[in-house]
Formats: sequence, C-alpha cells, structure tokens
Amino acid sequence: MTKITAAITAVGKYVPDYILTNKELETLVDTNDEWITSRTGIKERRILKEEGLGTSYLAIKAAQELIQKSNIDPTEIDMVILGTATPDLFVASTAAYVASEIGAVNAFGYDLQAACSSFLYGMSTAAAYIESGRYKKVLLIGADKMSSIIDYKDRATCIIFGDGAGAALFEPNTEGLGLQDEFLRSDGVGRDFLRIEAGGSLMPTTQKTLDDKKHFVYQEGKTVFKYAVSNMAEVAAKMLTRNNLEERDIQWLAAHQANKRIIEATAKRVGVSSEKVMMNIQNYGNTTSATLPLLLADYENQLKKGDNIIFAAFGGGFTWGAAYVKWAYNS
Ligand code: COA
Repeated sequence: MTKITAAITAVGKYVPDYILTNKELETLVDTNDEWITSRTGIKERRILKEEGLGTSYLAIKAAQELIQKSNIDPTEIDMVILGTATPDLFVASTAAYVASEIGAVNAFGYDLQAACSSFLYGMSTAAAYIESGRYKKVLLIGADKMSSIIDYKDRATCIIFGDGAGAALFEPNTEGLGLQDEFLRSDGVGRDFLRIEAGGSLMPTTQKTLDDKKHFVYQEGKTVFKYAVSNMAEVAAKMLTRNNLEERDIQWLAAHQANKRIIEATAKRVGVSSEKVMMNIQNYGNTTSATLPLLLADYENQLKKGDNIIFAAFGGGFTWGAAYVKWAYNS
C-alpha cells in the first residue's frame, strides 16, 4: 500500500492595514528605532485597530485568501484548527466561528494553544489526521491579535508583538512530499518568564488584577532569549542529523519570528547561509501563532516542489520544536 504523507497544498495570509512603526513607539515609551532594530530586527508591525474585531477577523481573512487562491470548495474542508493565544472569547471556540464564517459547514473546529509554538504543534496535529486517513482536508490557521494583550506603556513587550494571520491547507500526498519528521518539546519551567498572570483559573479577574495590570503579557526577555536560542537551535539541528541531511540539502529555514538574533543563531547552528533563511520580522514583529504561515505566504513564490524546509519555533510554557517538510507544489 502507498504511504500517505501530509502535504501543505495551499497557503493564505492577512495582516491589518495599520502600521505601527518604531518611530510611533518612540512617542509611547522610552525607546528608539536604533535600539529596537539592533536588538530585535523589527521595523514595524501591523495592528488591528477597528473596534469590535478580534482574532477571528484575521483568521477568516487569511482563510478566505487561501480559499480564493487555491479555488477550493470550503464545504470540502473536514477540519479547522486555529492556533491562537488570543481567542475571541474564553470558552466559545474561535475556530468553530471561523469555520462557519468561511463556509466550512461540514467541518468541525477547535483552538490549539501552545503560545508561539501553536502553528508548529498544529502542523503535527493536522498531519496526523491526514496520515491516519481519517480526514482529507485539514485547514490549519495561525492567528493572533497580540495588540489586545499588550501594554503600550511597557517597552519590554510593546516593541515586539504585532497582529496577523496565516493559513495552510493539509492534504494527503502519495509522492512522499509534506511532513517528514518532527521533534516537539515542552518544559513548564517557562511559565514564570512569559505569561499573562491573571484572568485564568489560577487568578481570576478582580478589580485588583485590573489595577495591577496583570492582564497584559509579561516577559522576562533575557531569560526567554537564552532558552529560545539554545532550544530552537538544538531541535532544528536535530532535524538534520536525524534525517541524514547536510546543509546543502536544505533549501529553507522557517523559524519563528521572535527576534532576528535568535533566528540568526538558529541558522548558524543548522549551518545554513542567510539567503536560505526566511525573514519577515522587520515587517510584522512577533505575531505569535501567525509567524510560520506568514513566512510561507510571503515566500510562496520562491518555494519549489521538493524543497526541503526546516521549521523551528519557541514559545511560552515553554513550548518548542522543529519539523522537516518537503514542499509539495510550485506556485
Ligand atoms: N528600548 C530601549 N531600551 C530598552 C528597551 C527598549 N524597548 N527595553 C529594554 N531596554 C534597555 C534595558 O532597560 C537595559 O538597560 P540597562 O542595560 O541600562 O539595564 C538594556 O536595554 C538591555 O535590556 P535587555 O532586556 O537585557 O535587552 P535584550 O538585549 O535582552 O533585548 C529583548 C530585549 C526583549 C528584545 C530580548 O531579550 C528578546 O528578544 N527576548 C526574547 C523574546 C522572545 O523570544 N519572546 C517570545 C518568545 S516566543
């Protein structure tokens, strides 16, 4: 029997129109363009400013772009997985709403939360459903409205994050293309260093939590940086050794866009030169669950069938991992 692999067969993206530049941030907090650029590589981010719109808006737009571009019938989608750390609502699944709005009326949907690793973990989930033969079309979306949980008076976080969404369709492949290998990890030691302290079951919302600004993202940047650099680089390198790949066999590195220095350190460890490193952090900042699919959408025109791509991500929890994918189409 022919082995079924799970291939990405289409991608889509959406970022809001509003551009928050380093210059504008200089008017909000004590920072400057030179510091932000040299420490993070970020020049600007997109922000969803319109009131009454949440993460679902970003996700729906990205999914609709994918559907239009690839000409698929949304009623054929079996499943919608939404990677997000900023769901529209607690309790009500945002993915269920997104699936209905895009016309995926025969699908079921749920949210997957692994902070900045949500899309990578989602790739594993989507691929497992396809490989098992259980479903034929799995739509994986990574979307986050990070501006909804950022304190624009905290210079440690507001310079980093942005809003955006990307989507990828997973389908069965019999040519051996798609997901080849993965290595996913987590370590609860991370939860003190990158978190939103209140609003969950551990510390429900009170007037005091609001007054103390405990509903915004808190990050101990230096510590997160150290863990991110070593862990992301290690798992990415593992994809090569475990699959007997040399640097020359790799066409692309798609690493979570949290900090240009972390991405460059990962590239160095894997041994790939800078022209093979997908990079768009300068335009969007860290969009959490959306960074990997935004890279795929931005680089789609340069990707060729059979290209070997190493994915790597690191996020709150801590969560992290890497995947090895053979690209399945020429666009
Ligand atoms: N503008 C100007 N100066 C700033 C600043 C800002 N926005 N933020 C911090 N500084 C200052 C600090 O106060 C400190 O000053 P001091 O030396 O006088 O005390 C100095 O710059 C260095 O601060 P530090 O926090 O050590 O900077 P850093 O080089 O570690 O960079 C981050 C900060 C947040 C960019 C970096 O730590 C990082 O990217 N961390 C990981 C982020 C990440 O990956 N997060 C998500 C994981 S998914």
